[in-house]
Amino acid sequence: MSVSDVVDAQMVTLPQVPRWRTLLGSLAMARQPVQNLDRVLTQHGDTVRLYLGGLRPAVITRNPALAQHILQKNHRRYLKSDLTHGLIRYLGRGLLTNEGADWLRQRRLIQPGFHRQRLTALTRLMQDVVEQWSTELGRRVQAAPGGRLRVDIHEEMTRVAFDIIARAVFGTSMREPERNRLSDILTRIQAFYVRTVRQPYLRPWFAATGTFGRHDAFSRELRELIRGYIRQRQAVSPTAAPPDDLLQMLLDARYEDSQEPMSENQLLDEVNILLLAGHETSANALSWLFYLLARHPEAAARVRQERAAAGLAGRAPEFSELPQLPYSQQVVQETMRLYPPAWILDRVALEDDEFRGLRIPKGTLFSIYLYGLHRHPGLWPEPDAFRPERFAPAARPPIPAYAYLPFGGGPRLCVGSHFALTEIQLVLLEGLRWFNLTPTSAALPGTDPLITLRPKGPLWLDITTA
Ligand code: HEM
Repeated sequence: MSVSDVVDAQMVTLPQVPRWRTLLGSLAMARQPVQNLDRVLTQHGDTVRLYLGGLRPAVITRNPALAQHILQKNHRRYLKSDLTHGLIRYLGRGLLTNEGADWLRQRRLIQPGFHRQRLTALTRLMQDVVEQWSTELGRRVQAAPGGRLRVDIHEEMTRVAFDIIARAVFGTSMREPERNRLSDILTRIQAFYVRTVRQPYLRPWFAATGTFGRHDAFSRELRELIRGYIRQRQAVSPTAAPPDDLLQMLLDARYEDSQEPMSENQLLDEVNILLLAGHETSANALSWLFYLLARHPEAAARVRQERAAAGLAGRAPEFSELPQLPYSQQVVQETMRLYPPAWILDRVALEDDEFRGLRIPKGTLFSIYLYGLHRHPGLWPEPDAFRPERFAPAARPPIPAYAYLPFGGGPRLCVGSHFALTEIQLVLLEGLRWFNLTPTSAALPGTDPLITLRPKGPLWLDITTA
């Protein structure tokens, strides 16, 4: 059976989940979107019309060919929707939220900043953060009764991932209290933003209680904090060796046409977006990764064997050595299949379009449901099983096109994907070098899909030193 046979054999008319049903189910959808969307798609088909939040007409899909059509083949006919653009109020118009010619100009300016040479330097900085974390955690483990410490791995990884992205952007210049404040503000803004989207009927309440105003104030505080660091960097003597971080990359970049640098406000927007996009996504991927390895000690043992065979027993790997550790890369890929940090993508049709006989009128809102795509039983054998080997180059069956999109697809593909893969593989290898992990319960943890797919509540693991 081919992939196109198993997904949406008939696209011309789409099943419609009635409005009364989505309205009735909107609270359940707000509480447990993943379970509810899975149920709807299993019942009605891979592409379904429904009402988001019980009110807003949308098409949700886990069809890889339709995802490819929207993200890549016909991407010019689609923009991100107000669900993404709403973030502009708090974080500005950076790569993630920008559109059109402006987006392309910024993308051309920024993308070269993530080339191999910079990633080599950024990997050293990631090593420093991981070393600091593992030393400090090692001390806590040794001080714990019986040398066994129970930790919320999500809390740990949120700190590690924020330290990595903050250091990648600002170098070593940012003080810890300010790093913590930045992280706290970004978390608050995201959590509030998701509530305004998922429960739009609460907006008058948020306006009346000054909640919008409070979050606007957070956003101003964030900008002022970052502005201070930008100005501090600009004031550094031109004779001093420039730091090899992302802020310097953004300051040094020049537009191809004018040879001018970015304006300060544009720079602020881009820094905001890099911090947002590069923080929770990686933190969640890393949390799920360690959770899965705690439940699959055979996979953890194989990662350790691979590391030892590559001669890395006593030190952290360099950027150039990471490709020599393919099994650990497969573990990372499989984690993001089961728990894609960006679990849903939104697009809206700019003009009328058509896909395999399906009429798509201008204004149609699409939710491309990556979580469902990554666990589609017609695309993945044993979709809920953790099997890193399925990503081995010679694995059978091969992975169908556009069935695996943790970093999106087409021209809006994640600009930080190599950065993120490097970071996750490195933290994985160093984490397993120093620690053994055991789950504290046999129960599967719940998911809390906000902008990114977080674990619901703490993700407890018992840790001993390896
Ligand atoms: C596991 C980690 C990550 C995941 C799963 C992830 C996922 C994604 C996805 C799915 C998109 C496309 C969104 C869409 O098409 O609507 C995206 C875009 C983006 N990501 Fe990531 N990301 C990760 C880490 C990072 C990091 C570390 C950075 C920065 C250092 C970053 C910066 C960005 C930016 C700036 C965009 C917008 C690109 C554009 O539209 O031109 N991401 N990411």
